[in-house]
Amino acid sequence: MAADDKPGRRGMFSLKAEHYVRLAADIAAVLDGEDNLVARMATVVCMLAAAFETFLWTGFYLVDLGKPEELVIGPYQGTLGCLRIPFGRGVCGTSAAEMRTVVVPDVERFEGHIACDSRARSEIVTPVRSATGALIGVLDIDSAQPDAFDEYDAAGLETIVRRAFGFSPP
Ligand code: SME
Repeated sequence: MAADDKPGRRGMFSLKAEHYVRLAADIAAVLDGEDNLVARMATVVCMLAAAFETFLWTGFYLVDLGKPEELVIGPYQGTLGCLRIPFGRGVCGTSAAEMRTVVVPDVERFEGHIACDSRARSEIVTPVRSATGALIGVLDIDSAQPDAFDEYDAAGLETIVRRAFGFSPP
């Protein structure tokens, strides 16, 4: 029996998926009517960080309009994050350059990983796009637990950022 077929694991994963579905709806409800980008990002970060005990650092890096190949720190919760990350560097820069969600089970095995908090053991980064598909930035989440993120986190976080930022402003 494959590990994922064990009832315990399947139960755990479906609980996580359900948690994301409820959280996505809660976030959408709180954001309703607010079109300020900083307010929306700060709210998403706060609600995500409160929803999962395993999240050590939760935040956004934004595409710098003055330097389009560079990410600059946005709203976050956690210890001090580095201020700028060039596209292609670290997990965030890789996600931005390749426009895809990157799941890192062990940060020490990801070449070029940028260690902001030495307690971080695993990480997930997902791109954030506007309604036109343009890259706005990335959502970066670190955990002190190894292998904390899986496809359920990827799907849940992609849905949350699409609903929060892939909208057409009024
Ligand atoms: N670990 C990230 C850098 C940002 S900190 O985790 C806040 C990376 O390698 O992209």
